[in-house]
Amino acid sequence: MKILAIETSCDETAAAVVEDGWKVLSNVIASQIDLHAKTGGVVPEVAAREHVLKMPAVLDEALKEARCAFDDIDAIAVTRGPGLISSLIIGTETASVISYVKNLPLIPVHHIVGHIYANWLDVKDEIKFPILVLTVSGGHNEIILMRKHNDFEVLGESRDDAAGEAFDKVARILGLGYPGGPAIAKAALNGDGKAFKFPRIYLEKGSLDFSFSGLKTAVLNEAKKHMHKNDLAASFQEAVVETLAEKLLRALETLKKKGVEVKEVHLAGGVSANLRLREVIHEKLPKNIVFRYPKSIKFCTDNATMIGAAGYFLYKHSKEKFSSGKNIIPSAEFRI
Ligand code: KG4
Ligand code: ZN
Repeated sequence: MKILAIETSCDETAAAVVEDGWKVLSNVIASQIDLHAKTGGVVPEVAAREHVLKMPAVLDEALKEARCAFDDIDAIAVTRGPGLISSLIIGTETASVISYVKNLPLIPVHHIVGHIYANWLDVKDEIKFPILVLTVSGGHNEIILMRKHNDFEVLGESRDDAAGEAFDKVARILGLGYPGGPAIAKAALNGDGKAFKFPRIYLEKGSLDFSFSGLKTAVLNEAKKHMHKNDLAASFQEAVVETLAEKLLRALETLKKKGVEVKEVHLAGGVSANLRLREVIHEKLPKNIVFRYPKSIKFCTDNATMIGAAGYFLYKHSKEKFSSGKNIIPSAEFRI
């Protein structure tokens, strides 16, 4: 089954063709990074206008790269939210029109569920449930138990800044530019992660929630005293990574006590591109648990292949009827 997928939740205009939930036939992303670097972050109105301009060429390219015509496509999948409403509307309207004109099923996909299914892309071996997922993106940070396809239980979430948001804000404090995650990771390579002892916030005993806003303030206070960019970046990254890894281990323990034997641990979302995060989790996880993150860095950050993968499994495993041409109401809310 070939799915044409569209993703416009933030500042990437993306389209892809994915076959059977794992095989990537094309992956086209028109980035707006240069545009938003000028303002140090995304201005929603500017992003939406850019989506309108880029969408036709991106769709064209996605079909061409996949060597497909519209008639070869079996369904349309599109991000329904959460995200910037004005950006989401461009994607959902485009998808509705194609679905109506071509009489194809229309599958609305939750953005974070998309990130989770990025772990199925290009994977040929069997992925085993139950899976514990750590979602770390710019807007979201959760620990999720996935018992089977399309079955997600949120065990913990960020009470303030998401991990990626913290990376972006600290990069701004350090004058490292936008997007912050890759810039911090690069600066950290030349810094000492033990130079500053930043707080690791674990909240109340037993809580699987996160909080990163205090850490951001701690970096700001230290940066006002002395701007050792590389050491500050490295010490900040260590604090985030250690907190995330520790919470993941606590979640595994909690589940074990309840009799849930987790088979795999997955990283999902833009921060899953962080090599230090992968390294520390890999070191700490029990060796009988399979550890996965998206196979390509391109699948970590926002893209449409992940929406195509998630759309496939939703279509296969949901009782819902995905009729053609129906309107999708985009949503900014998180609930999966
Ligand atoms: O998942 P994503 O592309 O968009 C959202 O759904 O939010 O995540 C973007 C986030 C940004 O905050 C970016 O700074 C972060 O992912 N990011 C990274 C890295 N690459 C991207 N954070 C840490 N290390 C990286 N290498
Ligand atoms: Zn995302």
